[in-house]
Amino acid sequence: MKFSIKTDQLDKQRSDVLVVGIYDSLKLVYDKSSLSAPTISHIASILKHGDMSGKVGSSLILYNVPGIKIPKILLIGLGKEKELDGKKYHAAVRAMIYALKKMDVKKITSLIQIASIKEADIAWNIEHFVNEVMDASYEFAELKTVNKKTKKTFDIFVVVDKKSQKIAEAALKKSFALAKGIELTKTLGNLPPNICTPTYLGKKAQEIGKDHGMKIEVLDQKQIEKLKMGSFLGVAKGSRQPPKFIVLQHNKGKKTQKPIILVGKGITFDAGGISIKPAGDMDEMKYDMCGAASVLGTFKTIGLLNLPMNVIGIIPTCENLPDGLALKPGDILTSMSGQTIEVLNTDAEGRLILCDALTYAERFNPDVVIDIATLTGACVIALGHHASGLYSNDDKLAKDLESAGQTSLDRAWRMPLWEDYQSQLDSNFADMANIGGRAGGSITAACFLSRFAKKYKWAHLDIAGTAWKSGKAKGATGRPVGLLIQYILSKMN
Ligand code: BES
Ligand code: MN
Ligand code: ZN
Repeated sequence: MKFSIKTDQLDKQRSDVLVVGIYDSLKLVYDKSSLSAPTISHIASILKHGDMSGKVGSSLILYNVPGIKIPKILLIGLGKEKELDGKKYHAAVRAMIYALKKMDVKKITSLIQIASIKEADIAWNIEHFVNEVMDASYEFAELKTVNKKTKKTFDIFVVVDKKSQKIAEAALKKSFALAKGIELTKTLGNLPPNICTPTYLGKKAQEIGKDHGMKIEVLDQKQIEKLKMGSFLGVAKGSRQPPKFIVLQHNKGKKTQKPIILVGKGITFDAGGISIKPAGDMDEMKYDMCGAASVLGTFKTIGLLNLPMNVIGIIPTCENLPDGLALKPGDILTSMSGQTIEVLNTDAEGRLILCDALTYAERFNPDVVIDIATLTGACVIALGHHASGLYSNDDKLAKDLESAGQTSLDRAWRMPLWEDYQSQLDSNFADMANIGGRAGGSITAACFLSRFAKKYKWAHLDIAGTAWKSGKAKGATGRPVGLLIQYILSKMN
């Protein structure tokens, strides 16, 4: 997919189709210089036939309209003019992509983004246009031998008026970089667990680092042992895929600026270990590395934008499988922090790998540390699929993340991290147990992590409900890359 901003007259652009928004009053959305009188009156005469309602997402193709060189016009319904909000605009842009995919077109000129949308400006319109186009046209067809070649890409000319050109170009650059990061996150999530292994994630990190001048380290089993990450290694030993500990450093900020650290859960397959999961839908546990994938996607976007910031990514990655040598219920692990953990359920493995990564983060003297993890089924029960669970030991950080979620429409909802819940983790035999019972399962998981994040400002995003979709549209969503990028950008000002 290619996008470019255009401000010149439509006739100068050689494109195959012009996309125009239309309200349910059948009023077209165009700029005075874009459509000529004969074109408009011809369209009006066709609309009299009644085949276009203008409802959100409806569409109609017109051919050889007089007064314009572009041979096809695609009308896309925007609904009631006064009610056009961000959500309806998203639906209209999606409808545009679905219609275009069925047409024989390559070069597209779009006017849809000049519509005025509640509480939005041209920059917002462009950003959401680009992200919605990229999202709606995303396909994971790499491993289908039949469909592989049918994937369509378009050259899209995004028309704006002259005075908005600069703003529009900046918005395009930002949103395209974000969309590429989201795309990477989705693809890593969708890749099967026999391909997307800890080693594979390490290679992807190296690639991103090479492309964008970042420092990348991929530590192997021996190096992880040296660091005494007993908790992480406890999980890793049930698998024959070697674990990796990935550290990405984007050091483009001032030397004095403390880094933002992102820690991502990278379980490339979670069978539950000896506390094995039921078979139904177990394939979905390939998504248990979506926290790691969101860190890699965020780094891709940061790299593309070459942000003048210091950001560090930390990814502990391994599989959670049952094996003769696997972790057992009752085992006691000594974490890198020195705290001991009684494993009462080997399926609560995410927190066991994250706790050592949180301890490792201390050495960078961070501004904030944010971990991102598909951590608990309980979070899905609590918040469903719309909001990520947000926990923090710092009110300002929590507020900043909440508002970044609002702005990016990639929302998070703050959950309690009260002392009252901590006793659910009491163990008779170690400093703590790795589970706290069924009640408040997402909260006690966060409480567990908080014990390893005492030395800095920390937040935890439980993305078990938001990182992927089940059912017919099964697949990774790319969340919460939008939220994370918005947060990082907000720290630049
Ligand atoms: N990766 C899962 C969490 C998960 C479950 C994510 C369902 C998405 C959908 C995690 O490792 C896990 O298994 N958690 C257990 C914890 C329990 C044993 C305390 C869970 O949520 O059931
Ligand atoms: Mn698990
Ligand atoms: Zn897991």
